[in-house]
Parts: sequence; C-alpha cells; structure tokens
Amino acid sequence: MALERFGVSMDKGLLERFDERIHRAGYANRSEAIRDVVRDYLVRHEWESDEVQVVGTLTLVYDHHTRQLEDKLIEIQHDHHDLVRCATHVHLDHHNCLEVIVISGRAADVRSLAEGLISIRGVKHGELTCTTTGRGI
Ligand code: NI
Repeated sequence: MALERFGVSMDKGLLERFDERIHRAGYANRSEAIRDVVRDYLVRHEWESDEVQVVGTLTLVYDHHTRQLEDKLIEIQHDHHDLVRCATHVHLDHHNCLEVIVISGRAADVRSLAEGLISIRGVKHGELTCTTTGRGI
C-alpha cells in the first residue's frame, strides 16, 4: 500500500479540539485518527448506494411475552435466510430479550430487512449498525 503525505489547513481551535479528543481515545498520532475518520466517512457513504454489498449488525430488544413476536421475528429471518448470517439471543431478565443479528447483502436489502424487524409490534428498541465488508476501504 503506497502512502501519500498531504498538508491540511485547519482552524487552530478545531484542531486543538480534535487533538484533545483523539488523545483521550488513545490514538498514537493524528494520522491514524484521520485515517479512521476517512474510512468511517467512506463506509457511511457506501450505504447510500443501494447496490453496494454491505454487512451490518441489528440489535433488538423486546419482551418475549408479546404475543407472536418471536414467531414473527423467526419467520422474517427465514424468509431472508440469504441475508441473515447468524443471530445471538440473550435473555436479559424475566421479560426482556436482546438479539443481535448479523446481516449482509445489498445495502437496500439489508436496510429493508432491518426496518422490517425493528417495526414489529413489541420490539422496544432496534438499531442497525452499518459497517463494511472491508473490501472497499
Ligand atoms: Ni430471551
């Protein structure tokens, strides 16, 4: 991998805040932090294109006593078995369950499956973390 150096002009106050933040985060230097910021920017924009192959993790919290909720969650995942890579279930307490589902495929399909699962009645909280296959960055 060829490295290229470049200079950046930036407001002093902004740079000081950035340095303070990355120091707290544990970055050894600005270059590594800026590389991560650039990769994050590229990954977020990958998801804007429907056709790009992406991977994400969907986290759901729900009350398993809600009627037919678990059946629906399982049925929808089976309908999209080509997208669902795996799922992990945690029994949080007597009522609440947490499920993490790894989904990969076209960005549009992954988003739509995640939205379909989050919107089921009884799901208390759902969030899709959009990450990357790593190939494009
Ligand atoms: Ni459970």
